[in-house]
Amino acid sequence: MASHSQLTPDIHSLWLSEPWLARRVKQGQFVNVRCSAGPDPVLRRPISVADVRGTKLRLVFRVKGRGTAMLARFRNGDVIDLLGPLGRPAPLLANLDILVCGGGVGIAPLLFLTRQLKGRNRIVAALGARSRRELILVDEFRKLGVQVSIATDDGSRGHHGPVTDLVSVSPQTPDPSSQSPSVVYACGPKPMLAALVKKLHPVPVWGFIEERMGCGTGLCYCCALPRKGGGYVRFCEEGPVVLLNEVRL
Ligand SMILES: Cc1cc2nc3c(=O)[nH]c(=O)nc-3n(C[C@H](O)[C@H](O)[C@H](O)COP(=O)(O)OP(=O)(O)OC[C@H]3O[C@@H](n4cnc5c(N)ncnc54)[C@H](O)[C@@H]3O)c2cc1C
Ligand code: FES
Repeated sequence: MASHSQLTPDIHSLWLSEPWLARRVKQGQFVNVRCSAGPDPVLRRPISVADVRGTKLRLVFRVKGRGTAMLARFRNGDVIDLLGPLGRPAPLLANLDILVCGGGVGIAPLLFLTRQLKGRNRIVAALGARSRRELILVDEFRKLGVQVSIATDDGSRGHHGPVTDLVSVSPQTPDPSSQSPSVVYACGPKPMLAALVKKLHPVPVWGFIEERMGCGTGLCYCCALPRKGGGYVRFCEEGPVVLLNEVRL
């Protein structure tokens, strides 16, 4: 591992020296991480790739339970066992007005995606968190030349309220920042994703699904989401970035 830093009291960032993966991984894909050198915990934990620079890739994760707490104890020079890249890349659309909307640690995978979308699209970002201290990666989005709006639940930075308050389907106006997006990429808690789909209907919303996962390779069906009109979407295989307008969250 190349470096470990802490972005908030419970969100960590790891830069990993992984030339093989860094060459292959695409926006929206994830890796399955072995959280300790021993046999426990048995299941790897899925973490999205938050960024890639040269031969290094970045993971940004919140400590939730045992696995991520173990992962947070890795230090510079330690070796981390990764399986990936997994999942399908998020579609790289072009020549569109794109909104990227992230909540909490869900902001992280949108950074890599935005880096890839930049230059082909007009992009604005709406980023939200519980409080100013919980807000991550804002400067990195700004460095990409993206216009960023911020919301916090407690009003300690930006708009006071949920990040979904920052987005709307508005009539065409001369102000480019207030124009409706033609497509949205979003990552965050399920209620945030559901609210976005409802509020922005009929705008397509591509959402990163970061729910509980088992095998991560399409075999166990424990990650399946019901598809509107029948059937299921296994988000480890068909996702994790899926068109939210087509599934029941
Ligand atoms: C494709 C994918 C990409 C992901 N990318 C990221 C990422 O970039 N950064 C990040 O911080 N997290 C990400 N997650 C969520 C992350 O995998 C879980 O937080 C982690 O597996 C929890 O493991 P744990 O051992 O720490 O917690 P556990 O001890 O397994 O569980 C602790 C608590 O977390 C809940 N939990 C367990 N798994 C998940 C889950 N997948 N999502 C939400 N809550 C869960 C449990 O219900 C329990 O309440 C991603 C998940 C998926 C499926
Ligand atoms: S996690 Fe097993 S099929 Fe998706």
